[in-house]
Amino acid sequence: MRLRCTVNGRTTECSTHPMRRLLDILREDLGLTGTKEGCGEGECGACTVLLDGAPVTSCMVPAIQLEGRDIRTIEGIGSPKAPHPLQRLFVEEGAVQCGFCTPGMILAALALLQDNPTPDRAAIRFALSGNLCRCTGYEAIFRAVERAAAEDVPTFPPREGMQNDTPQSPRFDPGEEGRFTVPRTLDEALEHLAEHPGARAVLAGGTDVMPDMRKRGTLPESAVDISRLPELHRIRVQRDRLHIGAGATNAELQRNPNVQAHFPCLVEAARRSGAPTIQHRATIGGNLMTASPAADLPPLLMALDASVTLACSGGTRTIPVAEHITGYRETACHGQELLTEISIPLPGRGRVQRFSKRATRQGLSLARVALGCSAGLFEGRLGDVRIACGSMTPVPMMLEEVMAFLEGKHPDSETIRRAGELAAAAVEPRKTPHFRKHATRGLVEQFLREFQP
Ligand code: FES
Ligand code: FES
Repeated sequence: MRLRCTVNGRTTECSTHPMRRLLDILREDLGLTGTKEGCGEGECGACTVLLDGAPVTSCMVPAIQLEGRDIRTIEGIGSPKAPHPLQRLFVEEGAVQCGFCTPGMILAALALLQDNPTPDRAAIRFALSGNLCRCTGYEAIFRAVERAAAEDVPTFPPREGMQNDTPQSPRFDPGEEGRFTVPRTLDEALEHLAEHPGARAVLAGGTDVMPDMRKRGTLPESAVDISRLPELHRIRVQRDRLHIGAGATNAELQRNPNVQAHFPCLVEAARRSGAPTIQHRATIGGNLMTASPAADLPPLLMALDASVTLACSGGTRTIPVAEHITGYRETACHGQELLTEISIPLPGRGRVQRFSKRATRQGLSLARVALGCSAGLFEGRLGDVRIACGSMTPVPMMLEEVMAFLEGKHPDSETIRRAGELAAAAVEPRKTPHFRKHATRGLVEQFLREFQP
């Protein structure tokens, strides 16, 4: 395909395979070797660049998603003769040793300062949590970013209108026509899937497709990119439910006023699901379609009694999230269908809804235990209790016995202790069972204690 985009402020054209990684295009075609490859699967942050102003890992962005977009690499930030003030501060603070992580750190830090010009230490730690450094121990890096904030260094805002605007189709080569497509509307996407069912990668955030592609060592021969369909990014309240387009990213969930107002627990789940660089790519629909046992959002969505809408050119059907995930990485979605929307009933008064997770790293680590909980207190008694857990069994599970036990009970200490015991007994994790049972018990008890006076 022929790709046309903006790199470091210059219009750039090149010829490439639609599924080639942005990281390879930058390094091999454009000679921009400041962007480094570490893990190649979204975990180290060495390949971080700004895409339309947002920090993303370029090893997870395929060429097919880049037409008309704005990319900034470390070469567009400063140079050895004219370093950006943040680069100077990294040197002054001793935040650079081997320097392998530094370009990604600088770009992730500038994205933070663009969003939040006065971050505290916790915000800096979190913003850089997807960027690993094996040399400095981080302290010097954090100090450099703090000084940059105090000096109000220049940042690189997103170009006007570039976030999730209508997709632009690249010019595909004759052999690629029909195999690769960037539909402009949802109807176009559904028609395409009807004509070419299954067998093609459906690309949204690419956080699963791209690492899989790397592991297999071959480029997919067909793909449909739905990442910028406007219909899939809408979030709205309608008829007592919150409707979320399946393409909404974890970053979009966190900053949406409707999600913030009605489901702080979903904001928390999106915030704890991957590092910021991943949160700008990973989508709620992708989390449900991947159906990974370790996915963070499904247990919470099950506890919130959410449903998914599956659409095809012939119509739509809506099913509960619990029925959508049918097995290990398996869903009820047929080859011609697309998951288009997630809807959640708005919580009534007095309802408490929480997401909690136990994992090894704050920013980017798979949950060892993820728990979604929802319950109300009615005249002193628990009601409408829903608790679901993930990361322990092939599919997330509702803790039915615990829910039945709690229904109508006073949330006294004995009830909470017994519910914790039942929760620990209900889960059968294959790995680290002692830790995971203990953690499940603790998280269920912690949730229930919120109902105590
Ligand atoms: Fe590690 Fe891209 S190379 S995140
Ligand atoms: Fe060497 Fe960070 S300075 S990895």
